[in-house]
Amino acid sequence: MRRKRELYLLCLFLVLAAALPDKDDWDIYSFHINSTVTSRFATTVITSRVANRKDESKEIEFHVQIPKNAFISKFRMFIDGQVYDGIVKTKEQAQQQYTDAVSRGQSAGIVSSVGRTMEEFKTSVNVAAHKKVTFELTYEELLKRTHGIYEMQVHARPMKPVKDFKLDVYIYEKAGISFVDVKGGLSTKALANAITKTQTDEQAWVHFYPTEDQQKSCEYCGEDGMNGDLVIVYDVKRDTGLGDIKLTSDGYFVHHFAPSNLTRIPKNVVFVIDQSGSMNGKKMEQTRTALLHILNDLAENDFFGLITFDSEIFHWKRELVQATSENLHLAKEFARNIVDRGATDINGAILEGARMLNAHPREGSASILILLTDGDPTSGVTNPQRIQSNVKQAIAGKFPLYCLGFGFDVNFEFLEKMSLQNSGLARRIYQDSDADLQLKGFYEEVATPLLTDVTMIYIGGTNLTQTNFSQFYNGSEIVVAGKIIDNNIETFIPQVVAISSERKVNFSKTTGSMDSSNGTVSDGVLQRVWAYLTVKQLLEKELLLSGSEKQKVKDEALQLSLKYSFVTPLTSMVVTKPEGENTQILHKPKEGKAPQLHGLSLPPGPPGFSYAASPSHIGYAGSSSPRGRGYAGSSSPRGGGYAGSSRPRGGGYRSFPSLRVGGHGHSGLGRVLKPDMAHAPPVHPTYSSSRTRGGNWAMPPPRFAPHKFLLKMENQSQPLCFEINKTFILLLFHHPSKEVRVIGMLDAITHGGFRTILIQAGSEEMVAFNHLGVLDRRDGPFAQQTTNDNFTTGRIKVIRQPDKEFHITLEDMHLVIFVHEKDGYKFLWPVVHRMPNANNIEGILAALSITSYVEVESTPLTKLRIRDREVYVNSSSAADYSITEPVDISCWLTPTDDVLEKPLRHYILYDFQ
Ligand SMILES: *[C@@H]1O[C@H](CO)[C@@H](O)[C@H](O)[C@H]1NC(C)=O
Ligand SMILES: *[C@@H]1O[C@H](CO)[C@@H](O)[C@H](O)[C@H]1NC(C)=O
Ligand SMILES: *[C@@H]1O[C@H](CO)[C@@H](O)[C@H](O)[C@H]1NC(C)=O
Ligand SMILES: *[C@@H]1O[C@H](CO)[C@@H](O)[C@H](O)[C@H]1NC(C)=O
Ligand SMILES: *[C@@H]1O[C@H](CO)[C@@H](O)[C@H](O)[C@H]1NC(C)=O
Ligand SMILES: *[C@@H]1O[C@H](CO)[C@@H](O)[C@H](O)[C@H]1NC(C)=O
Repeated sequence: MRRKRELYLLCLFLVLAAALPDKDDWDIYSFHINSTVTSRFATTVITSRVANRKDESKEIEFHVQIPKNAFISKFRMFIDGQVYDGIVKTKEQAQQQYTDAVSRGQSAGIVSSVGRTMEEFKTSVNVAAHKKVTFELTYEELLKRTHGIYEMQVHARPMKPVKDFKLDVYIYEKAGISFVDVKGGLSTKALANAITKTQTDEQAWVHFYPTEDQQKSCEYCGEDGMNGDLVIVYDVKRDTGLGDIKLTSDGYFVHHFAPSNLTRIPKNVVFVIDQSGSMNGKKMEQTRTALLHILNDLAENDFFGLITFDSEIFHWKRELVQATSENLHLAKEFARNIVDRGATDINGAILEGARMLNAHPREGSASILILLTDGDPTSGVTNPQRIQSNVKQAIAGKFPLYCLGFGFDVNFEFLEKMSLQNSGLARRIYQDSDADLQLKGFYEEVATPLLTDVTMIYIGGTNLTQTNFSQFYNGSEIVVAGKIIDNNIETFIPQVVAISSERKVNFSKTTGSMDSSNGTVSDGVLQRVWAYLTVKQLLEKELLLSGSEKQKVKDEALQLSLKYSFVTPLTSMVVTKPEGENTQILHKPKEGKAPQLHGLSLPPGPPGFSYAASPSHIGYAGSSSPRGRGYAGSSSPRGGGYAGSSRPRGGGYRSFPSLRVGGHGHSGLGRVLKPDMAHAPPVHPTYSSSRTRGGNWAMPPPRFAPHKFLLKMENQSQPLCFEINKTFILLLFHHPSKEVRVIGMLDAITHGGFRTILIQAGSEEMVAFNHLGVLDRRDGPFAQQTTNDNFTTGRIKVIRQPDKEFHITLEDMHLVIFVHEKDGYKFLWPVVHRMPNANNIEGILAALSITSYVEVESTPLTKLRIRDREVYVNSSSAADYSITEPVDISCWLTPTDDVLEKPLRHYILYDFQ
């Protein structure tokens, strides 16, 4: 009997995992990425040709990553001689189409942000037996010069080794290219001979043609092909004058200004550093590290100030002091001793910083105020509007304010607005191991002011983008685009006036500084640069306005987005598909906001919705920020990324395959678990829709982001964490004398937690949970429970807290299963609230009984004593899923086998590999 039951259980889980498609029933026969960069404006076209090799129709997915800064401007599919063009519409129009689609049970929504710099685009289409489909996506991006270079990141992940894989980059710069370099994860030794780079004075070509074998064997490659980035880095030659002005015959011009012979001017900089309690641990440590570096870099004729704040404000010195070596030495002492405590008085701190700068003479120097914070204002003045108006008044346009938002608990929009109001910008600092480098990197962008009060003047020009810049820094560039009135070059006189040290400088037209493109820049390109810049700037401006002014600016940005077919935050692209297929709507996700997976505006999400992915994890970092908060109880249709296929398990596998294929009738699960379609919750619109097309199971990912587990401990400054890298079925808990077992299967989709958890008491009592709720076996086979009822089956008592958690009591054990969400996908997280009183308890939840550790060594590496073993640990962070609203916590990443009582393999019931 017992064996039979075990067999049954194993079968149940295997059924959950079995439905993997046959890898070879589809084939990418070519994958091309073609980027053309003229005048620093990059237009990239990704073309993928895929064949369905099966005797029946199949859903084929196209899935790529594009830079966040880019606008998608075209998407089309070619199927069976037909072209299906995406159409850019206003959000409202697209919304209507979306709502109609949802009411027909279809889903939509296909762009979301990944990592720090990329967004993910995906769609799918049903392809008939032995037919082919061509996907073609175009996106455009103005490359921005920082640290003295332009960087163009191209992500290559065709999802299979491809015979005909090509990545071509062509750069044309009339001013002359000073150097071109190829970097990024794919630029490794193993692939070196696949990359060719050629360069003439004005042109450069980079080709990347890896063979099929190379695509399997390089560092960022596997059986499923490449998965990584190529970054093209270059700069152009610069003159000492007005810079590079390009014109096209349609009357548009673009001016790049970054003269080469300027000397640095001294700066007055005040750092305002948040030391509130939330900066605890790693963040504070990284801030101190960055600050020490930055202080080291100050030049002797700079003046500086240092303010730390929580609910109170602490000065190092009340006035700015010169960066002499003695002062720097003392300031570093102060910086080393910054510790976290208290609440967050942002208002008081910035006002104090502004006071210090205002009290200091500014002639001949550049003043800069830098705020670093990781949270919302919680002390002093806390109303964001009041803070903004106070700050604006205190700064009065005299110097820029830069706001660095550390992590995802900051109200980024608040910081963004406040810095834009004060001619600065806001930057997110990702909570990761390199946060100190990010801080330092940002500082270096503004470390060397070259000009202040820069005014770009274009006599005979109109429709100009921004022309006034408070400061110009070494390594950056000022770009202005516009139209020449009547396209009359003779009366067009560009000039720049600015202040360099105490001297007024005037740059004006010299012979040769203006390039009529003369056919080398194709007509229309400069117009698109102009449109791109104008839309970006209007969107920023909109943030600062209200009422009818705001509406006016918004309308203007919208009209341009529509005219140039840019997918911006104001527009959406409706992806047209063959008759009878699901409509999909493509939205641009907003930085720091919940990814708009489903096209409906979600409740203004708490911060924490973009990824804290480290560059090495293309996809998700294991320690990605908490998600799902604020979604609870929201009835917004979800299922974005479900691509309209039935996915009873809620699977989306969105993190890995870029091409997903839907098989037919795989769903053994459908038989066993039989989800109750009639009662499918409204949150899964796709659920009942395309059921007939069968499951859409994906293959396992080429590379798993690890599941991260956190061990919180009292009396220990930082918890431990460990990773599990594969999708196992694990024994979570076993109480032999009571015949109680809890088994969980890790989720390959979210890498957050578990997909299914099964609780068993004796031979007959059994309850299973998945992300949708309880799978109950009272009426024969497991069926999805969709009611909110609490129930008891034998000794197992289940109390459901709406949506988010299940409380299970069984004998003297109390288990809570949380339903969390990451990137729109739900997963389960079990937490034992009360352990049974017995000493023979087994399982991974019982094996985490460490209550303390001792730090043995802290430099150069950290070594801890855990369970009498001495182990080296790394600093990391993990989401705390043991609470309703997960937060990221810094932790010591410890080798898995050293954390658990026994090596991990003791707890593995089934290994899918
Ligand atoms: C890339 O695109 C450009 C512009 O459309 C075109 O001229 C060029 O031939 C393309 N290159 C390749 C290798 O397809
Ligand atoms: C840069 O060089 C130009 C021409 O060589 C000169 O006119 C100008 O004054 C220089 N600018 C500075 C800031 O030295
Ligand atoms: C500006 O930066 C470049 C390196 O990017 C450096 O060579 C140059 O000296 C810097 N100029 C000033 C004025 O510091
Ligand atoms: C730009 O600056 C000039 C003087 O520096 C000023 O006259 C003009 O109004 C400013 N323009 C804008 C749009 O702020
Ligand atoms: C800049 O210099 C040019 C040529 O010397 C002169 O015509 C122009 O008026 C000057 N512009 C300003 C704003 O001083
Ligand atoms: C365009 O190029 C041709 C040949 O290089 C040259 O003769 C002509 O003057 C150029 N036209 C302009 C407007 O620069």
